Amino acid sequence: MAAIDGRCGDNRKVLHVILHQPEIPPNTGNVIRLCANAGASLHLIRPLGFDLDHARLRRAGLDYHEYARVTVHDDLDACLAALNRPRVFAFTTRAANRYTDTRFTDGDALLFGCETRGLPDDVLAGIPAARQLRLPMRPNNRSLNLSNAVAIALYEAWRQLDFSGGI
Ligand SMILES: C[S@@+](CC[C@H](N)C(=O)[O-])C[C@H]1O[C@@H](n2cnc3c(N)ncnc32)[C@H](O)[C@@H]1O
Repeated sequence: MAAIDGRCGDNRKVLHVILHQPEIPPNTGNVIRLCANAGASLHLIRPLGFDLDHARLRRAGLDYHEYARVTVHDDLDACLAALNRPRVFAFTTRAANRYTDTRFTDGDALLFGCETRGLPDDVLAGIPAARQLRLPMRPNNRSLNLSNAVAIALYEAWRQLDFSGGI
C-alpha cells in the first residue's frame, strides 16, 4: 500500500469514501474536491485507470489541502485493514435498499464501483445485503455518473451527522 501524501491508515472518526479501481480522472478529481469539502477521507483501490501524482493533481486545479487525505491502496482488503475494519456500505444499482433508509455514523466507509463495471460480484458477496444501497432512479436509465453518485451518498451521510465540522 502506498499513500500519495505519505500517510495511510488514517482512521480518525470521519466518513471514508472508497473508489474501487476508478478509471476516469475527472471523476476522481471531482470526488477529491467533494471529500475535501465534506471532510471525508478518500481511498482509491488499485489498479487506477490513470497516473495519480502531485503535479498532475495540481495541473487539474486541485489544491494541496484537497488531496492531502487521499490514500491509494493495493487492494480493498488492505484498505479495510488500514481503516480497522469499518462498517462498509456498498453503493450499487443492484441493491434493494434505499440509501435514505440507512443510519450512517462517523467512521463508516462508503464504497463505489468503477465507471464501466461497477462493483465486482466477489466484493459484493462480502458485504451484507442490508449494507448494499441503491440511489433511486427512474426505470430504463443508465446508472448515475460515479462522482454524482458519491456526492449524493456522501452528503446524505454527512447530513445525518449534522454536517459535523461544516459551516
Ligand atoms: C457509472 S456507475 C457503474 C456502472 C456499471 N455499468 C454498473 O452497472 O454497475 C459507477 C458507480 O456509481 C455508483 N452508482 C451509480 N448509480 C448508482 C445507483 N443508482 N445506486 C447506487 N450506486 C450507484 C455505484 O457504486 C457504481 O458502481
